[in-house]
Amino acid sequence: MIKALRGMKDIIDDSDKFTAFIDKATQIAKNFSFSYIETPLLEETRLFKRSVGESSDIVNKEMYQFIDKGGNDVCLRPEGTAGVVRAYIQKKYDSLQTPKQWYYYGPMFRYERPQKGRLREFHQFGVESFGEGSVYEDVKVILMASKILDSFGIAYTLKINSLGCDECRPRYTQNLVNFLENVKEELCEDCQRRITQNPIRTLDCKNEKCQNILKDAPRITYNLCDECNKDFELLKQELDKLGIKYEVDTSLVRGLDYYNKTAFEFVSDEIGAQSAICGGGRYDKLVEMLDGKSVPAVGFAMGIERLLPLINTQTKRDGVYIGIMTEDARDMAMKKFNQLVDTQKVYFENKVRKLNQHLKRADKMNYKKVLIAGEDEVAKGEFFSKEL
Ligand code: HAM
Repeated sequence: MIKALRGMKDIIDDSDKFTAFIDKATQIAKNFSFSYIETPLLEETRLFKRSVGESSDIVNKEMYQFIDKGGNDVCLRPEGTAGVVRAYIQKKYDSLQTPKQWYYYGPMFRYERPQKGRLREFHQFGVESFGEGSVYEDVKVILMASKILDSFGIAYTLKINSLGCDECRPRYTQNLVNFLENVKEELCEDCQRRITQNPIRTLDCKNEKCQNILKDAPRITYNLCDECNKDFELLKQELDKLGIKYEVDTSLVRGLDYYNKTAFEFVSDEIGAQSAICGGGRYDKLVEMLDGKSVPAVGFAMGIERLLPLINTQTKRDGVYIGIMTEDARDMAMKKFNQLVDTQKVYFENKVRKLNQHLKRADKMNYKKVLIAGEDEVAKGEFFSKEL
């Protein structure tokens, strides 16, 4: 038997929840005046190397990368932001400094070690906003993410941090490297490598020994320049005003290299170790890093598979079930089906069945209304009708 690849899942039993999530998230994003964008699943490998970063785990270990028949080095997208930035630049919106707000959803691919909540093919719903450098836009996208999660009654903790800017980050990184060099021998292999490649990523190392040592490491949050500090304070104030609860997490550094200033994650304590349900932040340098003109940007992405177990879809009855008790009633029933299907959900049962059997089926299938026709109904020209 041919099975789906390891870490890849069919969306079957949860497909109603999946589409309900996309529909609701789409509606909320549209209400925030964001438009839909769809970019290819396959992109040049260097797009991700130059954005997500050569030192990130994603690029280093997890890319579905291959040479295509034309000799191009390509890769299945591990995330959505890089492709959207590429599209923004390709359309020359950067030259014109055109603000754009987009939402998207679709599959992403990361060759990770599969476990509960961690897949090799998973789906994200994401948004990206270009052209607004103020912290108010960060607040707007965080508000949107919280509204999407709230609309499904999902409980979460919002964690926020600031990763600084070109002014304060290098100064801080040097302090951190000095600290790390002193404790180097005690750190795990990955962290030792990170000292030269990406020191800030040591802060969210999952290794217990490293975590203990890094408790005393300097934190960017307390080493921000005046402007970043002011912005971070404003972010907190604005979230307070909106009644959005948050925790400042000084270890929150994100697994992708393109972030600066605001970084955030929504986590759930109901889904096990892979608890991040939404991650995002500001990435003001990314358009430039991909050869565009400087344009500030901010966004987030949610992992849909991680959200599905948290969504309780009330199995509300809806739709109309049409059934026939005799072959002669087929024309009348089909005519009705043809009429109703333009405006509502209708199921036409092809098989001739007894009244009771139809009622049982309609009940099991969760329809709200049944219309059944047999000999008598054909004679009267009226359906037997019942609300369930
Ligand atoms: P990310 O934190 O790598 O950020 O992914 C966002 C979300 O995707 C995570 O919070 C998680 O819910 C889900 N996710 C990630 N990896 C997996 C996996 N292997 N299996 C299941 N779910 C997963 C980004 O991808 C950024 N592009 C977000 C962003 C948009 N930042 C700015 N704009």
